[in-house]
Amino acid sequence: MNKNIVCIGAGYIGGPTMAVVAKMNPDRKVVVVDINKSRIAAWNSKNFALPIYEPGLVDIVKEVRGKNLFFSTDIDKAIRECDIIFVGVNTPTKMFGRGKGRASDLQYWEATARNIKKIAKTPKIVVEKSTLPVRTAAAMEAILNSEDDGKFTVLSNPEFLAEGTAIKDLLNPDRVLIGGPQTPAGLAAVRAVVDIYRGQQGAWVPEKKILTTNVWSAELTKLAANAMLAQRVSSINALAGLCEATGADIEEVARVMGADHRIGPKFLKAGPGFGGSCFKKDVLNLVYLCESFGLHTAAEYWSQVIKMNDHQQERIVSRLFKAMFNTLANKKIAVFGFAFKANTGDTRETPADTVVRLLNEEHVRLAITDPKALDNAKKDLADIASDALAFVSDPYKAAKDADAVLVMTDWAEYPTLDWAKIYKSMRKPALVFDTRNCLDAVALRKLGFKVLNVGK
Ligand code: UDX
Ligand code: ADP
Repeated sequence: MNKNIVCIGAGYIGGPTMAVVAKMNPDRKVVVVDINKSRIAAWNSKNFALPIYEPGLVDIVKEVRGKNLFFSTDIDKAIRECDIIFVGVNTPTKMFGRGKGRASDLQYWEATARNIKKIAKTPKIVVEKSTLPVRTAAAMEAILNSEDDGKFTVLSNPEFLAEGTAIKDLLNPDRVLIGGPQTPAGLAAVRAVVDIYRGQQGAWVPEKKILTTNVWSAELTKLAANAMLAQRVSSINALAGLCEATGADIEEVARVMGADHRIGPKFLKAGPGFGGSCFKKDVLNLVYLCESFGLHTAAEYWSQVIKMNDHQQERIVSRLFKAMFNTLANKKIAVFGFAFKANTGDTRETPADTVVRLLNEEHVRLAITDPKALDNAKKDLADIASDALAFVSDPYKAAKDADAVLVMTDWAEYPTLDWAKIYKSMRKPALVFDTRNCLDAVALRKLGFKVLNVGK
Protein backbone atom coordinates (compact mmCIF):
# COMPACT_ATOMS: atom_id res chain seq x y z
CA MET A 1 0.00 0.00 0.00
CA ASN A 2 1.34 3.47 -0.84
CA LYS A 3 1.14 6.42 1.55
CA ASN A 4 -0.39 8.91 -0.88
CA ILE A 5 -3.63 10.58 0.08
CA VAL A 6 -6.32 12.10 -2.08
CA CYS A 7 -9.19 14.21 -0.81
CA ILE A 8 -12.21 14.66 -3.06
CA GLY A 9 -13.79 18.06 -2.34
CA ALA A 10 -11.70 21.19 -1.81
CA GLY A 11 -14.14 23.04 0.42
CA TYR A 12 -14.22 24.29 3.99
CA ILE A 13 -13.45 20.81 5.29
CA GLY A 14 -11.21 19.29 2.62
CA GLY A 15 -8.95 22.31 2.08
CA PRO A 16 -7.85 23.14 5.64
CA THR A 17 -7.84 19.50 6.79
CA MET A 18 -5.57 18.36 3.99
CA ALA A 19 -3.28 21.38 4.37
CA VAL A 20 -2.65 20.29 7.95
CA VAL A 21 -2.44 16.58 7.02
CA ALA A 22 0.28 17.51 4.49
CA LYS A 23 2.14 19.71 6.97
CA MET A 24 2.21 17.01 9.63
CA ASN A 25 3.04 14.22 7.15
CA PRO A 26 5.90 15.54 5.00
CA ASP A 27 6.57 11.97 3.85
CA ARG A 28 3.16 11.67 2.19
CA LYS A 29 1.90 13.21 -1.02
CA VAL A 30 -1.52 14.80 -0.50
CA VAL A 31 -3.68 15.72 -3.49
CA VAL A 32 -6.92 17.68 -3.07
CA VAL A 33 -9.26 17.47 -6.05
CA ASP A 34 -12.53 19.15 -6.95
CA ILE A 35 -14.87 19.38 -9.93
CA ASN A 36 -15.03 23.13 -9.41
CA LYS A 37 -12.24 24.52 -11.61
CA SER A 38 -12.30 28.04 -10.25
CA ARG A 39 -12.04 26.75 -6.70
CA ILE A 40 -8.95 24.71 -7.56
CA ALA A 41 -7.50 27.69 -9.44
CA ALA A 42 -7.95 29.79 -6.30
CA TRP A 43 -6.19 27.18 -4.15
CA ASN A 44 -3.35 27.24 -6.70
CA SER A 45 -3.28 31.03 -7.17
CA LYS A 46 0.16 32.62 -7.20
CA ASN A 47 -0.83 35.33 -4.72
CA PHE A 48 -2.49 32.79 -2.38
CA ALA A 49 -5.97 34.26 -2.86
CA LEU A 50 -7.46 31.09 -1.35
CA PRO A 51 -11.18 30.35 -1.82
CA ILE A 52 -11.85 30.40 1.92
CA TYR A 53 -10.68 32.56 4.77
CA GLU A 54 -9.39 30.79 7.88
CA PRO A 55 -6.85 32.33 10.28
CA GLY A 56 -3.44 30.67 9.81
CA LEU A 57 -4.47 28.70 6.71
CA VAL A 58 -2.54 30.72 4.18
CA ASP A 59 0.74 30.27 6.06
CA ILE A 60 0.41 26.49 6.03
CA VAL A 61 -0.55 26.44 2.35
CA LYS A 62 2.50 28.61 1.60
CA GLU A 63 4.66 26.13 3.48
CA VAL A 64 3.46 22.90 1.83
CA ARG A 65 1.82 23.70 -1.51
CA GLY A 66 3.96 22.34 -4.34
CA LYS A 67 6.04 20.32 -1.86
CA ASN A 68 3.69 17.57 -0.76
CA LEU A 69 0.31 19.30 -1.09
CA PHE A 70 -1.28 19.63 -4.53
CA PHE A 71 -4.62 20.92 -5.78
CA SER A 72 -5.98 19.50 -9.01
CA THR A 73 -9.09 18.93 -11.12
CA ASP A 74 -7.76 15.63 -12.43
CA ILE A 75 -9.84 13.51 -10.09
CA ASP A 76 -9.36 10.20 -11.91
CA LYS A 77 -5.57 10.42 -11.95
CA ALA A 78 -5.49 11.21 -8.25
CA ILE A 79 -7.76 8.25 -7.44
CA ARG A 80 -5.57 5.91 -9.49
CA GLU A 81 -2.37 7.01 -7.77
CA CYS A 82 -3.34 6.68 -4.13
CA ASP A 83 -4.63 4.03 -1.75
CA ILE A 84 -6.40 6.26 0.76
CA ILE A 85 -9.26 8.46 -0.41
CA PHE A 86 -10.96 11.02 1.82
CA VAL A 87 -14.37 12.16 0.62
CA GLY A 88 -15.29 15.71 1.62
CA VAL A 89 -17.94 16.68 -0.89
CA ASN A 90 -20.94 18.75 0.07
CA THR A 91 -24.07 17.12 1.49
CA PRO A 92 -26.56 19.97 1.82
CA THR A 93 -30.08 19.57 3.17
CA LYS A 94 -32.31 18.10 0.48
CA MET A 95 -34.66 20.65 -1.07
CA PHE A 96 -36.89 18.25 -2.98
CA GLY A 97 -38.76 14.96 -2.75
CA ARG A 98 -38.60 12.55 0.17
CA GLY A 99 -37.10 14.03 3.31
CA LYS A 100 -37.25 17.53 1.76
CA GLY A 101 -35.92 20.14 4.18
CA ARG A 102 -34.52 17.52 6.57
CA ALA A 103 -32.61 14.67 4.95
CA SER A 104 -29.18 15.15 3.38
CA ASP A 105 -28.89 15.48 -0.36
CA LEU A 106 -26.54 12.65 -1.18
CA GLN A 107 -26.23 13.09 -4.92
CA TYR A 108 -22.69 14.54 -4.86
CA TRP A 109 -21.59 11.90 -2.46
CA GLU A 110 -23.08 9.04 -4.52
CA ALA A 111 -21.59 10.39 -7.75
CA THR A 112 -18.23 10.37 -6.00
CA ALA A 113 -18.64 6.77 -4.82
CA ARG A 114 -19.57 5.63 -8.34
CA ASN A 115 -16.64 7.46 -9.83
CA ILE A 116 -14.20 5.89 -7.36
CA LYS A 117 -15.60 2.49 -8.26
CA LYS A 118 -15.23 3.14 -11.99
CA ILE A 119 -11.65 4.37 -11.79
CA ALA A 120 -10.02 2.32 -9.03
CA LYS A 121 -8.17 -0.79 -10.15
CA THR A 122 -6.45 -1.58 -6.84
CA PRO A 123 -7.82 -1.87 -3.24
CA LYS A 124 -8.63 1.47 -1.61
CA ILE A 125 -9.53 2.75 1.81
CA VAL A 126 -12.38 5.24 1.43
CA VAL A 127 -12.78 7.63 4.33
CA GLU A 128 -16.02 9.58 4.79
CA LYS A 129 -15.31 13.12 5.90
CA SER A 130 -18.57 14.80 4.90
CA THR A 131 -21.37 14.80 7.46
CA LEU A 132 -23.61 11.99 6.36
CA PRO A 133 -26.64 10.28 7.83
CA VAL A 134 -26.00 7.21 9.91
CA ARG A 135 -25.57 4.08 7.84
CA THR A 136 -24.36 5.93 4.76
CA ALA A 137 -21.03 4.13 4.98
CA ALA A 138 -22.94 0.89 4.49
CA ALA A 139 -24.55 2.32 1.35
CA MET A 140 -21.18 3.49 0.12
CA GLU A 141 -19.72 0.09 0.77
CA ALA A 142 -22.62 -1.50 -1.15
CA ILE A 143 -21.99 0.71 -4.17
CA LEU A 144 -18.24 0.28 -4.09
CA ASN A 145 -18.13 -3.44 -3.48
CA SER A 146 -21.06 -4.44 -5.71
CA GLU A 147 -19.86 -7.11 -8.17
CA ASP A 148 -16.43 -6.82 -6.55
CA ASP A 149 -14.50 -8.79 -4.01
CA GLY A 150 -14.43 -6.40 -1.09
CA LYS A 151 -11.71 -4.30 -2.69
CA PHE A 152 -12.89 -1.22 -0.80
CA THR A 153 -12.95 -0.59 2.93
CA VAL A 154 -15.16 2.30 4.02
CA LEU A 155 -14.36 4.23 7.20
CA SER A 156 -16.05 7.17 8.87
CA ASN A 157 -13.79 9.97 10.10
CA PRO A 158 -16.05 12.90 10.95
CA GLU A 159 -14.50 16.32 11.18
CA PHE A 160 -15.05 18.34 14.35
CA LEU A 161 -13.22 21.54 13.39
CA ALA A 162 -15.09 24.79 13.86
CA GLU A 163 -14.71 27.53 11.29
CA GLY A 164 -12.61 30.48 12.34
CA THR A 165 -10.50 28.19 14.53
CA ALA A 166 -10.09 25.37 11.97
CA ILE A 167 -6.29 25.38 11.93
CA LYS A 168 -6.01 25.50 15.71
CA ASP A 169 -8.61 22.72 16.02
CA LEU A 170 -6.80 20.61 13.43
CA LEU A 171 -3.33 21.07 14.91
CA ASN A 172 -4.52 20.37 18.43
CA PRO A 173 -7.84 18.50 18.32
CA ASP A 174 -9.81 17.45 21.42
CA ARG A 175 -10.20 14.11 19.71
CA VAL A 176 -10.01 12.42 16.34
CA LEU A 177 -12.70 9.86 15.63
CA ILE A 178 -12.24 6.96 13.26
CA GLY A 179 -14.99 4.39 12.79
CA GLY A 180 -14.38 1.20 10.87
CA PRO A 181 -15.76 -2.27 10.31
CA GLN A 182 -14.78 -4.67 13.08
CA THR A 183 -13.11 -7.07 10.63
CA PRO A 184 -9.39 -7.71 10.09
CA ALA A 185 -9.45 -5.59 6.91
CA GLY A 186 -11.48 -2.91 8.69
CA LEU A 187 -9.15 -2.76 11.67
CA ALA A 188 -6.10 -2.58 9.39
CA ALA A 189 -7.69 0.29 7.47
CA VAL A 190 -8.44 2.12 10.74
CA ARG A 191 -4.77 1.68 11.71
CA ALA A 192 -3.67 3.15 8.38
CA VAL A 193 -5.76 6.27 9.03
CA VAL A 194 -4.64 6.47 12.68
CA ASP A 195 -1.08 6.62 11.30
CA ILE A 196 -1.98 9.69 9.24
CA TYR A 197 -3.28 11.50 12.32
CA ARG A 198 -0.29 10.47 14.41
CA GLY A 199 1.80 12.40 11.85
CA GLN A 200 5.32 11.66 10.76
CA GLN A 201 7.19 10.14 13.71
CA GLY A 202 4.13 10.60 15.92
CA ALA A 203 4.51 14.38 15.94
CA TRP A 204 0.85 15.25 15.49
CA VAL A 205 -2.13 13.80 17.47
CA PRO A 206 -1.28 11.75 20.58
CA GLU A 207 -2.55 8.16 20.39
CA LYS A 208 -4.89 8.62 23.38
CA LYS A 209 -6.81 11.35 21.58
CA ILE A 210 -7.53 9.13 18.60
CA LEU A 211 -10.77 7.32 19.38
CA THR A 212 -11.88 4.37 17.32
CA THR A 213 -15.41 2.97 17.15
CA ASN A 214 -17.60 1.00 14.80
CA VAL A 215 -18.71 2.86 11.68
CA TRP A 216 -22.23 3.63 12.84
CA SER A 217 -21.15 5.04 16.18
CA ALA A 218 -18.74 7.35 14.36
CA GLU A 219 -21.41 8.52 11.95
CA LEU A 220 -23.94 9.12 14.72
CA THR A 221 -21.45 10.85 17.03
CA LYS A 222 -20.93 13.69 14.58
CA LEU A 223 -24.67 14.38 14.42
CA ALA A 224 -25.06 13.91 18.15
CA ALA A 225 -22.20 16.26 19.08
CA ASN A 226 -23.47 19.03 16.81
CA ALA A 227 -27.06 18.54 17.98
CA MET A 228 -25.94 18.83 21.63
CA LEU A 229 -24.04 22.05 20.90
CA ALA A 230 -26.92 23.50 18.89
CA GLN A 231 -29.29 22.55 21.70
CA ARG A 232 -27.13 24.49 24.16
CA VAL A 233 -27.33 27.61 21.98
CA SER A 234 -31.11 27.28 21.65
CA SER A 235 -31.45 26.71 25.39
CA ILE A 236 -29.48 29.82 26.29
CA ASN A 237 -31.44 31.85 23.72
CA ALA A 238 -34.72 30.56 25.15
CA LEU A 239 -33.54 31.79 28.57
CA ALA A 240 -32.44 35.11 27.02
CA GLY A 241 -36.03 35.93 26.10
CA LEU A 242 -37.08 35.29 29.66
CA CYS A 243 -34.27 37.53 30.96
CA GLU A 244 -35.44 40.38 28.72
CA ALA A 245 -38.96 40.00 30.09
CA THR A 246 -37.99 39.79 33.75
CA GLY A 247 -34.98 42.07 34.17
CA ALA A 248 -32.53 39.22 34.70
CA ASP A 249 -29.25 39.44 32.77
CA ILE A 250 -28.36 36.44 30.58
CA GLU A 251 -24.63 37.03 30.96
CA GLU A 252 -24.91 36.85 34.74
CA VAL A 253 -27.10 33.77 34.50
CA ALA A 254 -24.66 32.09 32.07
CA ARG A 255 -21.64 32.99 34.20
CA VAL A 256 -23.10 31.41 37.27
CA MET A 257 -24.51 28.39 35.45
CA GLY A 258 -21.19 27.84 33.72
CA ALA A 259 -19.33 27.78 37.05
CA ASP A 260 -20.95 24.41 37.73
CA HIS A 261 -18.31 22.11 36.31
CA ARG A 262 -20.98 19.73 35.11
CA ILE A 263 -22.37 22.48 32.86
CA GLY A 264 -19.12 24.29 32.01
CA PRO A 265 -18.73 27.85 30.72
CA LYS A 266 -18.48 27.26 26.96
CA PHE A 267 -21.25 27.56 24.40
CA LEU A 268 -23.47 29.58 26.71
CA LYS A 269 -23.43 32.80 24.74
CA ALA A 270 -26.84 34.18 23.86
CA GLY A 271 -27.04 35.83 20.47
CA PRO A 272 -28.86 35.90 17.16
CA GLY A 273 -28.99 32.09 17.00
CA PHE A 274 -26.65 29.59 15.46
CA GLY A 275 -25.65 29.53 11.82
CA GLY A 276 -23.02 27.72 9.80
CA SER A 277 -23.13 24.73 7.54
CA CYS A 278 -23.37 22.06 10.24
CA PHE A 279 -25.74 22.74 13.09
CA LYS A 280 -29.04 23.13 11.27
CA LYS A 281 -28.23 20.45 8.74
CA ASP A 282 -27.13 17.95 11.36
CA VAL A 283 -30.09 18.56 13.68
CA LEU A 284 -32.46 18.19 10.72
CA ASN A 285 -30.69 14.99 9.82
CA LEU A 286 -31.13 13.71 13.33
CA VAL A 287 -34.84 14.59 13.20
CA TYR A 288 -35.18 12.69 9.94
CA LEU A 289 -33.33 9.69 11.33
CA CYS A 290 -35.50 9.60 14.45
CA GLU A 291 -38.62 9.79 12.30
CA SER A 292 -37.42 7.03 10.00
CA PHE A 293 -36.97 4.76 12.99
CA GLY A 294 -40.38 5.62 14.43
CA LEU A 295 -38.95 7.71 17.29
CA HIS A 296 -41.45 10.52 16.83
CA THR A 297 -41.15 12.13 20.27
CA ALA A 298 -37.37 12.29 19.94
CA ALA A 299 -37.80 13.79 16.45
CA GLU A 300 -40.11 16.43 17.85
CA TYR A 301 -37.69 17.17 20.68
CA TRP A 302 -34.80 17.90 18.32
CA SER A 303 -37.04 19.90 15.95
CA GLN A 304 -37.62 22.37 18.76
CA VAL A 305 -33.92 23.26 18.69
CA ILE A 306 -34.37 24.59 15.15
CA LYS A 307 -37.72 26.20 15.93
CA MET A 308 -36.18 28.09 18.86
CA ASN A 309 -33.33 29.23 16.63
CA ASP A 310 -35.67 30.59 13.95
CA HIS A 311 -37.73 32.29 16.63
CA GLN A 312 -34.66 34.10 17.95
CA GLN A 313 -34.19 35.94 14.66
CA GLU A 314 -37.86 36.89 14.48
CA ARG A 315 -37.60 38.20 18.03
CA ILE A 316 -34.63 40.37 17.11
CA VAL A 317 -36.56 41.98 14.28
CA SER A 318 -39.63 42.52 16.51
CA ARG A 319 -37.57 44.21 19.20
CA LEU A 320 -35.83 46.42 16.66
CA PHE A 321 -39.17 47.33 15.13
CA LYS A 322 -40.58 48.30 18.50
CA ALA A 323 -37.49 50.31 19.47
CA MET A 324 -37.79 52.21 16.19
CA PHE A 325 -41.35 53.32 16.94
CA ASN A 326 -43.04 50.52 14.96
CA THR A 327 -42.12 51.88 11.57
CA LEU A 328 -39.05 51.13 9.53
CA ALA A 329 -40.11 52.37 6.09
CA ASN A 330 -37.45 54.68 4.64
CA LYS A 331 -35.27 54.50 7.74
CA LYS A 332 -31.70 53.32 7.40
CA ILE A 333 -30.15 50.42 9.32
CA ALA A 334 -26.46 49.55 9.16
CA VAL A 335 -25.91 45.81 9.59
CA PHE A 336 -22.50 45.17 11.15
CA GLY A 337 -21.42 41.66 10.20
CA PHE A 338 -22.98 39.14 7.83
CA ALA A 339 -20.78 36.09 8.50
CA PHE A 340 -22.40 33.46 10.76
CA LYS A 341 -19.69 34.13 13.34
CA ALA A 342 -16.40 36.04 13.60
CA ASN A 343 -13.18 35.05 11.81
CA THR A 344 -14.83 33.48 8.81
CA GLY A 345 -16.17 34.71 5.50
CA ASP A 346 -18.72 31.90 5.52
CA THR A 347 -22.36 32.96 5.35
CA ARG A 348 -24.09 29.60 5.13
CA GLU A 349 -27.23 29.64 7.32
CA THR A 350 -26.12 32.94 8.84
CA PRO A 351 -28.76 34.52 11.11
CA ALA A 352 -27.95 37.86 9.42
CA ASP A 353 -29.51 36.57 6.20
CA THR A 354 -32.85 35.86 7.87
CA VAL A 355 -32.84 39.17 9.70
CA VAL A 356 -31.91 41.16 6.57
CA ARG A 357 -34.72 39.52 4.61
CA LEU A 358 -37.28 40.25 7.33
CA LEU A 359 -36.12 43.86 7.52
CA ASN A 360 -36.13 44.20 3.74
CA GLU A 361 -39.85 43.42 3.74
CA GLU A 362 -40.35 46.54 5.88
CA HIS A 363 -38.93 48.78 3.14
CA VAL A 364 -36.04 49.87 5.29
CA ARG A 365 -32.76 50.96 3.67
CA LEU A 366 -29.98 48.57 4.62
CA ALA A 367 -26.22 49.04 4.48
CA ILE A 368 -24.40 45.77 5.11
CA THR A 369 -20.78 45.72 6.15
CA ASP A 370 -18.44 42.83 6.97
CA PRO A 371 -14.64 42.53 6.89
CA LYS A 372 -14.58 39.10 5.20
CA ALA A 373 -18.05 38.08 4.08
CA LEU A 374 -19.19 40.92 1.84
CA ASP A 375 -18.71 39.00 -1.43
CA ASN A 376 -20.71 36.07 -0.11
CA ALA A 377 -23.36 38.45 1.24
CA LYS A 378 -23.77 40.00 -2.23
CA LYS A 379 -24.22 36.57 -3.79
CA ASP A 380 -26.63 35.35 -1.10
CA LEU A 381 -28.83 38.44 -1.31
CA ALA A 382 -28.75 38.80 -5.10
CA ASP A 383 -32.43 37.83 -5.31
CA ILE A 384 -33.51 40.84 -3.23
CA ALA A 385 -31.00 43.29 -4.73
CA SER A 386 -32.36 46.82 -4.96
CA ASP A 387 -31.36 50.43 -4.36
CA ALA A 388 -32.42 49.91 -0.75
CA LEU A 389 -29.67 47.31 -0.17
CA ALA A 390 -26.06 48.52 -0.13
CA PHE A 391 -22.84 46.60 0.55
CA VAL A 392 -20.22 48.79 2.13
CA SER A 393 -16.80 47.67 3.28
CA ASP A 394 -16.18 50.68 5.53
CA PRO A 395 -18.35 50.43 8.69
CA TYR A 396 -18.20 54.21 9.21
CA LYS A 397 -19.69 54.77 5.76
CA ALA A 398 -22.30 52.07 6.41
CA ALA A 399 -23.42 53.83 9.60
CA LYS A 400 -23.52 57.34 8.13
CA ASP A 401 -27.05 58.81 8.37
CA ALA A 402 -28.35 55.53 9.75
CA ASP A 403 -31.07 55.39 12.40
CA ALA A 404 -29.69 52.17 13.87
CA VAL A 405 -26.65 49.92 13.87
CA LEU A 406 -27.48 46.24 14.13
CA VAL A 407 -24.47 44.15 15.18
CA MET A 408 -24.94 40.61 13.85
CA THR A 409 -21.38 39.22 13.98
CA ASP A 410 -18.90 39.47 16.86
CA TRP A 411 -15.94 40.69 14.81
CA ALA A 412 -13.10 41.73 17.16
CA GLU A 413 -12.75 45.09 15.43
CA TYR A 414 -16.30 46.27 16.19
CA PRO A 415 -15.68 47.14 19.86
CA THR A 416 -12.57 49.11 18.84
CA LEU A 417 -14.34 51.38 16.33
CA ASP A 418 -14.63 55.10 17.06
CA TRP A 419 -18.21 54.98 18.28
CA ALA A 420 -18.26 58.72 19.07
CA LYS A 421 -17.60 59.36 15.39
CA ILE A 422 -20.29 56.87 14.41
CA TYR A 423 -22.78 58.52 16.78
CA LYS A 424 -22.12 61.95 15.30
CA SER A 425 -22.74 60.72 11.76
CA MET A 426 -26.05 59.00 12.55
CA ARG A 427 -29.63 60.30 12.61
CA LYS A 428 -30.96 60.84 16.12
CA PRO A 429 -32.17 59.14 18.21
CA ALA A 430 -29.35 56.73 17.36
CA LEU A 431 -29.85 53.08 18.28
CA VAL A 432 -27.37 50.20 18.58
CA PHE A 433 -28.81 46.70 18.76
CA ASP A 434 -25.84 44.54 19.72
CA THR A 435 -27.16 41.00 19.21
CA ARG A 436 -23.77 39.55 20.16
CA ASN A 437 -23.38 41.55 23.38
CA CYS A 438 -19.83 42.31 22.24
CA LEU A 439 -19.78 46.10 22.65
CA ASP A 440 -19.43 48.19 25.81
CA ALA A 441 -23.07 49.14 26.34
CA VAL A 442 -22.30 51.53 29.22
CA ALA A 443 -19.82 53.50 27.10
CA LEU A 444 -22.26 53.60 24.19
CA ARG A 445 -25.04 54.93 26.40
CA LYS A 446 -22.70 57.65 27.67
CA LEU A 447 -22.17 58.73 24.08
CA GLY A 448 -25.94 59.14 23.68
CA PHE A 449 -26.86 55.86 22.00
CA LYS A 450 -29.94 53.92 22.91
CA VAL A 451 -28.65 50.33 23.32
CA LEU A 452 -30.41 46.99 23.00
CA ASN A 453 -28.81 43.66 23.86
CA VAL A 454 -29.91 40.05 23.73
CA GLY A 455 -30.97 38.67 27.09
CA LYS A 456 -30.95 41.91 29.08
C1 UDX B 1 -19.64 23.55 14.48
C2 UDX B 1 -18.99 22.64 15.56
O1 UDX B 1 -18.51 23.45 16.64
C3 UDX B 1 -17.86 21.82 14.96
O2 UDX B 1 -17.35 20.93 15.92
C4 UDX B 1 -18.41 21.05 13.77
O3 UDX B 1 -17.38 20.32 13.13
C5 UDX B 1 -19.05 21.99 12.76
O4 UDX B 1 -20.06 22.77 13.39
P1 UDX B 1 -19.02 25.88 13.36
O5 UDX B 1 -20.37 25.81 12.72
O6 UDX B 1 -17.86 26.23 12.50
O7 UDX B 1 -18.66 24.51 14.07
O8 UDX B 1 -19.07 27.01 14.51
P2 UDX B 1 -19.37 27.07 16.07
O9 UDX B 1 -18.29 27.82 16.70
O10 UDX B 1 -19.70 25.77 16.64
O11 UDX B 1 -20.65 28.01 16.11
C6 UDX B 1 -21.88 27.66 15.52
C7 UDX B 1 -22.90 28.75 15.69
O12 UDX B 1 -23.34 28.84 17.04
C8 UDX B 1 -22.38 30.13 15.32
O13 UDX B 1 -23.38 30.81 14.58
C9 UDX B 1 -22.13 30.80 16.65
O14 UDX B 1 -22.23 32.19 16.60
C10 UDX B 1 -23.22 30.18 17.49
N1 UDX B 1 -22.92 30.16 18.93
C11 UDX B 1 -21.90 29.41 19.40
C12 UDX B 1 -23.69 30.91 19.81
O15 UDX B 1 -24.63 31.61 19.39
N2 UDX B 1 -23.40 30.86 21.15
C13 UDX B 1 -22.38 30.11 21.65
O16 UDX B 1 -22.19 30.12 22.88
C14 UDX B 1 -21.60 29.36 20.75
P1 ADP C 1 -17.80 21.39 3.20
O1 ADP C 1 -18.16 22.50 4.15
O2 ADP C 1 -18.47 20.09 3.55
O3 ADP C 1 -16.33 21.25 2.97
P2 ADP C 1 -18.04 22.74 0.64
O4 ADP C 1 -19.29 23.06 -0.13
O5 ADP C 1 -17.21 23.84 1.16
O6 ADP C 1 -18.50 21.75 1.81
O7 ADP C 1 -17.08 21.82 -0.24
C1 ADP C 1 -17.46 20.70 -0.93
C2 ADP C 1 -16.69 20.64 -2.25
O8 ADP C 1 -16.95 19.39 -2.87
C3 ADP C 1 -17.09 21.72 -3.27
O9 ADP C 1 -15.95 22.49 -3.61
C4 ADP C 1 -17.62 20.92 -4.47
O10 ADP C 1 -17.27 21.49 -5.72
C5 ADP C 1 -16.93 19.57 -4.28
N1 ADP C 1 -17.60 18.46 -4.95
C6 ADP C 1 -18.91 18.15 -4.98
N2 ADP C 1 -19.14 17.03 -5.71
C7 ADP C 1 -17.93 16.60 -6.15
C8 ADP C 1 -17.47 15.49 -6.96
N3 ADP C 1 -18.33 14.58 -7.44
N4 ADP C 1 -16.15 15.40 -7.21
C9 ADP C 1 -15.29 16.32 -6.72
N5 ADP C 1 -15.63 17.37 -5.96
C10 ADP C 1 -16.94 17.52 -5.68
